[in-house]
Amino acid sequence: MREFTEPLNVPKFIEMCYKQHPFAYELNYKKGVAVVGAHFGDCGKGKFDDLIIRQYKEEGYKVINIRGQGGGNAGHTVVDAETGLKYDFHYLPSGGLVSDLILLGAGMLLDPIRILKEAEKLPEEQRARILIDGRATFCTLLERKLDGYYESCKEKSGSAKVGSTGSGVGPAVSLRALRVHIQFFKAKACKNPEELKKLFDKIPDVPAYIWDDIAEEYGSVMGYIEKLYDAIQQLNIIESMPIIQYTRNMGWACVLEVSQAFCLDSLFGNEGNFVTSTHTTVVGALADAGLTPADLTDGTILVSKAYASKVGGGPFVTKFSKDDKLEQEIAQYIYDNNGECGVTTGRIRDLGWHDCVAIKAAIMRNGSRKLAVNCMDTIGLIPGKHAKICIAYKHKVTGEITSFWPDMQSEYEPVYKEIYTSWNIKHANSEEMIPTEAWRFLAHLEYYSGAVVTFIGTGGSNADVVRVSDIGRSYIDKWKVKDFGSSAE
Ligand code: IMP
Repeated sequence: MREFTEPLNVPKFIEMCYKQHPFAYELNYKKGVAVVGAHFGDCGKGKFDDLIIRQYKEEGYKVINIRGQGGGNAGHTVVDAETGLKYDFHYLPSGGLVSDLILLGAGMLLDPIRILKEAEKLPEEQRARILIDGRATFCTLLERKLDGYYESCKEKSGSAKVGSTGSGVGPAVSLRALRVHIQFFKAKACKNPEELKKLFDKIPDVPAYIWDDIAEEYGSVMGYIEKLYDAIQQLNIIESMPIIQYTRNMGWACVLEVSQAFCLDSLFGNEGNFVTSTHTTVVGALADAGLTPADLTDGTILVSKAYASKVGGGPFVTKFSKDDKLEQEIAQYIYDNNGECGVTTGRIRDLGWHDCVAIKAAIMRNGSRKLAVNCMDTIGLIPGKHAKICIAYKHKVTGEITSFWPDMQSEYEPVYKEIYTSWNIKHANSEEMIPTEAWRFLAHLEYYSGAVVTFIGTGGSNADVVRVSDIGRSYIDKWKVKDFGSSAE
């Protein structure tokens, strides 16, 4: 038996869910939390997913770990505490190794073959716990090729490239909006690959060369469809409502992992064009997962790093300046120590300073002030011993100052405050190990964004976390009074 999960006969469990009493039902999970990114993603949400799931399990709850939106564009490395084995997850939520059930929700854009590949590496009993909502949308080699096609069309027409991860998520969402997408329940109902092919035939305007490319890779288009068909037969494609309802009724806890992060939200993110194609706030992710706000009894935790990073096109207001020698040195220090290379694409991430304007917007759009700040160890060791935090944006032409995340971010430059940062808290796991300067840095982040820091990340391992209790809070509040005259946000 694994460290945390009890054996579960999944087919029997699903049957029980489908047969449950139809008239008596709870309206929410006993315990529930969402973990959301607050900057541009890649901020280490997985650590908090894992931590909260373990905490719930220690309290005696069974846990369902749910994703609602996104697909293969997300990426996180998960280390199995039992075996030390490393896994790169793209489809699975990062608590996939420790949760009792994993639900890939209706809003997800999924490739059956790639899910199987990802799942193959998991221990067998954990693999069986992956459930896919039949309403989820296909996002296959076709959509990945369309991703490349649309990016090249944009370039030809003079539009800036999104810098997509190439996972096909954007085209899959477009097909869904056109209502010509393939849902898993429809694919599952196909009696043979020929029937599945008919679903693909209904998708209009696919450039002929894309099907030719697929045929070349797989011998024929049918060769690829057959592989998809085989994969579908091996997946647990379910109706999510009975599963969600049964686990609610049985007093389970749920942890919703929201992919990407606020600044990539399809509506409110990076100038609207340089965003992902789904909502990245808790509000959107709840809808996409088929959950409700009532499920999140423990609210939402926002996650950022003590600095910021970004991949893809579009403005990045707090990006380190190429002309600033010290900032380039700091970037190199971070690359050397934290890697900062995309798990999905392998692209090197651009780096910059922590952006309180973006965090404030993430707080307002997610309805939560709770902030976990990762990489506090890194920021304490940067060359120059001082970090900047962005406290407002200034319009490049009018000079107008704002602390509201504007729609046209490229028209603004950052207003910074510099703070002394010199400490070594690598792998710290208790508040006593956090020096006063680090509390002061956090007091500044809180003051300028309105956040309430609840966790501090101090290293790459899931154990490198400090939970902020009343003791830490009193240190932060003391600094707020000293520096700003008030402890109020
Ligand atoms: P797409 O979601 O692959 O279409 O990419 C759209 C934009 O979001 C690009 O700038 C990507 O680099 C970025 N993006 C998508 N998913 C992630 C993620 O999980 N982490 C960081 N950036 C992401």
